[in-house]
Amino acid sequence: MDNASEKKKVMLSGIQPSGDLHLGNYLGAVKNWAELPDQFDCYYFMADLHTITVRQEPKELRRRSTTQLAQYIACGLDPEKNTLFLQSHVHEHAELGWILNCYTMFGELSRMTQFKDKSAKHADNINGGLFTYPALMAADILLYQADYVPVGEDQKQHCELTRNIAIRFNNLYGETFKVPEPYIPKVGARIMSLSNPASKMSKSDPQGCVFLMDSPEELARKFKRAVTDSDTERCVRFDPENKPGVANLMNIYSSVTGKSYSEIEAEFDGKGYGVFKPQVGEAVIESLRPIREEAEHIIADKAYLQEVYTQGAQKASAVARRTLRKVYKKIGLVEKPF
Ligand code: TRP
Repeated sequence: MDNASEKKKVMLSGIQPSGDLHLGNYLGAVKNWAELPDQFDCYYFMADLHTITVRQEPKELRRRSTTQLAQYIACGLDPEKNTLFLQSHVHEHAELGWILNCYTMFGELSRMTQFKDKSAKHADNINGGLFTYPALMAADILLYQADYVPVGEDQKQHCELTRNIAIRFNNLYGETFKVPEPYIPKVGARIMSLSNPASKMSKSDPQGCVFLMDSPEELARKFKRAVTDSDTERCVRFDPENKPGVANLMNIYSSVTGKSYSEIEAEFDGKGYGVFKPQVGEAVIESLRPIREEAEHIIADKAYLQEVYTQGAQKASAVARRTLRKVYKKIGLVEKPF
């Protein structure tokens, strides 16, 4: 094998420290990421600079930036195997972000659906950062010459724009950036809200949302109240079209126990939702217990957390610096003599 093929492909994703992690984040994304470092060179960062495009309470932002990192580690992202850091600690992001602003068109930014959504939601604060958000995101990705970006459906448009920016820049100045691809994992459950199985589990609907840091009592309550279906048959059968509430609970149960849908149907044969729902809750409580305990443990160990994000930023910066230097040179900035 030659050197190039031995080198692992680079995987990178950013997470906004805007709220606690929930079961959808865990089963749909992070749990799978934990399996990746054997195959890929993985970078994950808290996108704190992106988060301030919407007004934040400073104290809360500071707290969440590290507690969220602790939750990711507790979910299995091993800091020894993944590069974990805070975006603002690697100043190359902001620097390349500015440069890429100058290679991103007003028209392109105007077409971003996230910008349209967020400006409708925060009509009193449609700031420049909200508009140029995708240029910073492109910088996040291109600095590390990432091959793959694991993201949800909602970020595909930003990934597409990143590709266009990279191609545009490469065409002007010669090969500079790797053109990344969105990474859609083969496995990864799509978890819906417990209170409204038609919409994705989301922190904006706390009653239907299973937070990883919820207490067992809180979790038991949420599962007991989970919406099932108003069909007359009232049995546990996998039928996402006619019984979306039950299908969602079966999906969750299957994801945390490894049981197949037919095994689950057999297990609850002849039993009603009154038995099924608490049992799913119990299984989730048991599978989240070690994660929550580990996260609490890490959050309490500030020195450890600081060591993780310090080392992460140092490693990331060494890589980012190389790309940024190349870019400065290509566009005609005078090389810094010190
Ligand atoms: N925009 C992403 C989100 O809202 C977060 C993000 C910032 C990101 N920079 C990134 C994701 C780089 C992937 C790669 O979820």
